[in-house]
Amino acid sequence: MKTKFHEKIGKIVLGTVILTSTLIAGTASAQQSTWDVRDDHTSIWSRQQAEQVALTEETTAPVIDTDFENAAPDVWIWDTWPLQNRDGSLAIIKGYRVAFALVAPRTFGWNERHTEARIGMFYSKNGKDWTYAGIPYEYDKAYGHQQWAGSAMLDEEGKVHFFYTATTDMNANGGKEWNQHDWVKRAEQRLAKTTFDISADKDGVHLTNEGEHQIILEADGEHYETIEQFQNHGNIITAFRDPFFFQDPNTGKEYILFEGQAGSNRNYLKPENIGDEEYRNTHTVPEGAENYNGNIGIAEVLDEDVTKLKLLPPLIESVGANHQLERPHVVVDGDNYYLLTISHKFTYAPGLDGPDGLYGFYGKGGLRADYKPVNNGTGVIVANPEESPFQAYSWMVLPDGQTISFINEPTDENGVVKYGGTFAPTLKVSFDGDKTTIKKEMEVGEIKPFGPYGRSLR
Ligand code: FRU
Repeated sequence: MKTKFHEKIGKIVLGTVILTSTLIAGTASAQQSTWDVRDDHTSIWSRQQAEQVALTEETTAPVIDTDFENAAPDVWIWDTWPLQNRDGSLAIIKGYRVAFALVAPRTFGWNERHTEARIGMFYSKNGKDWTYAGIPYEYDKAYGHQQWAGSAMLDEEGKVHFFYTATTDMNANGGKEWNQHDWVKRAEQRLAKTTFDISADKDGVHLTNEGEHQIILEADGEHYETIEQFQNHGNIITAFRDPFFFQDPNTGKEYILFEGQAGSNRNYLKPENIGDEEYRNTHTVPEGAENYNGNIGIAEVLDEDVTKLKLLPPLIESVGANHQLERPHVVVDGDNYYLLTISHKFTYAPGLDGPDGLYGFYGKGGLRADYKPVNNGTGVIVANPEESPFQAYSWMVLPDGQTISFINEPTDENGVVKYGGTFAPTLKVSFDGDKTTIKKEMEVGEIKPFGPYGRSLR
């Protein structure tokens, strides 16, 4: 079932022009043994695994009341992330917690917000009542016509490293003029950053001394699809977005994770993208499935300032199964790694179905583990309830299992869908081996102080 919104988003915003693919079937690469930690190992979320997606009591979110308040009445709020220290713990600035979120003026329609997205700043003393402090950067200095999701890290010297997605080649700053027409086809995305000094006083939190904006990573065409490759065979909007800074507590190495699409060297359906031999013999793959080519990308950080990056092969791919593995991030408990991502119902490849939800893959022994879907293979960590299937989106799990998200399109008891655009109630999720459970619902937008990555998540 698709809501009107999703039909619209599919048509106008994200585009559903399925072009004929010239992709060819490849041969199987050598099978990886379980827990094999190799620099170039890409795990696979296959069609066979994606068929196991299911809602359970432990993974279905409580229904969100449609009578909610807007945290910032003048702007739509969606993807949200807190300011974290380098080790992942929550940054506290003179008693204030800081969060960033995508924002767009409410004078634009709900469905128009993606092309008008900027990154806004919020601060709070108690982690529940957030003050909206506007857009902290000069739009004319930033890359992209729109700025999409990212992450923010406070280093030891007190510099804020502000990572974001620069979307489209249409740049307000002396670049090509913005043009809404067919923008999805030109929606090139690059990973960018700038820096700020941060201070706080009785008037709140201030970001000052904005640094140069820099592009730190672009699609290479080999592991990650470029906009030109997308133009040749794309369907739903391409991705090279959502940079997530992560310092691995077990190695001290630093990475940027991001949402990508398979590039030329993996952009075909391999037998393992479908499933094991028995499954392949008993299932047919619907035409066009190969155009759904999501992956979770990774680059190693080579310098303190996070400006020099080495692109690595993806951590996982869902070629043939799902087109979008959005806002990827990680939490760690000892040597248990949880690779987390959000995905939509409408981005499943033909023949597959699943909820708008937070999905997770469990691996052991290192960041580049052989990841398998959590929860006995369902892969679901938080799903919207069936009675309000689009109530929230863009979940982000913090290092202690607190899980933030935004209110998207909740359905009320009369079946009427409302537009959200504000913080959703935070959930607390526990992680134990490959099992996860939604433990409780916290307050709307709540972020409690949390420690670094690597602690117990049980
Ligand atoms: C997820 C998402 C992100 C992107 C943003 C654009 O909600 O699609 O991947 O950065 O929304 O609005």
